[in-house]
Amino acid sequence: MSEKIQISKASVDAAVSDALKLIQAATDLASLKSIKASAIGEGSKIASFSSVLGKLPAEEKAEAGKLITAARNELNQAFASREADFYQVEQAQKLLAETVDVTAAASTQVLGARHPLSLLQDEISDIFIGMGWEIAEGPEVESEWFNFDALNFDADHPARAMQDTFFVEPVEQHLVLRTHTSPVQVRSLLERDLPVYVLCPGRVFRTDELDATHTPVFHQVEGLAVDKGLTMADLKGTLEHFARIMFGSDAKIRLRPSYFPFTEPSAELDVWHPGAKGGARWVEWGGCGMVNANVLSAAGIDPEVYSGFAFGMGIERTLMFRNDVKDMHDMVEADVRFSQQFGMVL
Ligand code: PHE
Repeated sequence: MSEKIQISKASVDAAVSDALKLIQAATDLASLKSIKASAIGEGSKIASFSSVLGKLPAEEKAEAGKLITAARNELNQAFASREADFYQVEQAQKLLAETVDVTAAASTQVLGARHPLSLLQDEISDIFIGMGWEIAEGPEVESEWFNFDALNFDADHPARAMQDTFFVEPVEQHLVLRTHTSPVQVRSLLERDLPVYVLCPGRVFRTDELDATHTPVFHQVEGLAVDKGLTMADLKGTLEHFARIMFGSDAKIRLRPSYFPFTEPSAELDVWHPGAKGGARWVEWGGCGMVNANVLSAAGIDPEVYSGFAFGMGIERTLMFRNDVKDMHDMVEADVRFSQQFGMVL
């Protein structure tokens, strides 16, 4: 049996005072909630008063009822006001936590960038497309015939040794990784109707070690024009125009006699680079010449009727001296910071 519950001013005040202490002791909304039952709910002293109220004699009931109601009101009010205070504090804390610092530096996502070699390749292609030339392509795994024989390299010609070739096994297949873009000359002549004006940018391979100025995989751009009446003057004019767009209107070119099996006469091409760091200077840029009659014949073209010129240069090398890139490693290591210096973020 529970002890006898006395409803009196003193006992009700004591119960209220205990419950108020509980309410005051709560430190946040959660702890206030957890004492709700014992302070003002079913488990509270006040609730136990209510449960005995009905059993009181009628003359005591009214007085006791008033005491209990007043006590309940006081506690409910105290509870509600404490609840409101905690709610306000929690709201304020939440807002503070969610504050957006509009002055904070934005966290940007690092995007890739087009590789400078691709950009330069496109830039060169655009120059020639602007003159009405077409872009031609050829395979990177090329038959030895297109890479050498059709280009007038004899089987035992010392010129074959000019280029260090990757041969593809089995060797009886006579496939190589193309050592230059010149095989596209012959392919273009076999595939296209005359006259032919094509530019072929592409990847080429030589057995070089990667160092500051060499890489076993690099890019060249090949130009070929075959038409009636083309002379070395056309070659020079074309290259001069190309050089001026690449290196500025003060650029000029110079041809030095040289030798390639597929051109006759042949020349080394130098460019006067006015914007060179450390002062304007001549830079070796590529090779060129008039298409050898044997090459035209190999493609079934009568060299008595048609003539042509061709040129080729390295894209890495062009980028190196045009943009003062000192080390080949920067071009092959795919560090986006290198690419981003050249703009054109995707
Ligand atoms: N293919 C030659 C090389 O790789 C360059 C060249 C192209 C020379 C066209 C003459 C004509 O060295």
